[in-house]
Amino acid sequence: MSAHREDKIRRLAAPDIAARKGGEPLVCLTAYTAPVAAALDDACDLLLVGDSLGMVVHGLPNTVGVTMEMMILHGQAVMRGSKRAMVVVDMPFGSYEGAPKEAYANAVRIMKETGAQGVKVESGPTIPDTIAYMVRRGVPVMGHVGLRPQAVLVDGGFKAKGKDEAGRALILEEARLTAEAGAFAVVVEGVAESLAREITAAIAPPTIGIGASAGCDGQILVTDDMLGLFDWTPKFVRRYADLKGEIERAAADYARDVKARTFPGEAETYYAKKG
Ligand code: KIV
Repeated sequence: MSAHREDKIRRLAAPDIAARKGGEPLVCLTAYTAPVAAALDDACDLLLVGDSLGMVVHGLPNTVGVTMEMMILHGQAVMRGSKRAMVVVDMPFGSYEGAPKEAYANAVRIMKETGAQGVKVESGPTIPDTIAYMVRRGVPVMGHVGLRPQAVLVDGGFKAKGKDEAGRALILEEARLTAEAGAFAVVVEGVAESLAREITAAIAPPTIGIGASAGCDGQILVTDDMLGLFDWTPKFVRRYADLKGEIERAAADYARDVKARTFPGEAETYYAKKG
């Protein structure tokens, strides 16, 4: 009965996100686990199972080491935890840069094994052809231009991009080609406001900014950053909570109670029935 009622909540999909171009800003966050996805679902239009999970959850130095298996496992968890937001899973480094056919097979595997409604790829120079190949075969694809975390080892690190004219023109062109290839939305990361506005005006799909100003059609942040789980966050992050502080306080209170033998107390203890 309750399963029947749950089925009536319609999940957003690529056309719903694409239709928001120039309208109410799209609210997007990353999610990696079922309980966090459940907590974010009501507020968000789109939950991204970002390959940032390699750094945020698994302690890797960058996203290059993230595997298909990691993305699928976390994608499944986020799908189980959420009901309404569109779930997009990042294609990890090495899963889409080769032949379009191979990228398509990996995207289909992600979608079938997680149930997610789309995938995201970072839009390097050769990627638009792959996006077009996948979109023509029914895979909803989100692009990602500007700072491309999977390219940090060749691209100068986690720094804002498009600082000179040539860099701006390259990013604008990549955004145009990504849009023309059929991406339903494009993440724009780490670029100046003027470039973000130029891209947003130039392409038909909505832009989703991260460190790219309010000039985009929507915003995304890494959830763990905005919840304050780390000591350091980039300039573009606004912290909406101090979860690290809360966890430290809770752990210290728990340690105090265990050592003082005040936990567990009567309320937290099972007793045998009398007689
Ligand atoms: O992996 C990720 O979390 C992302 C967002 C930063 C957009 O790509």
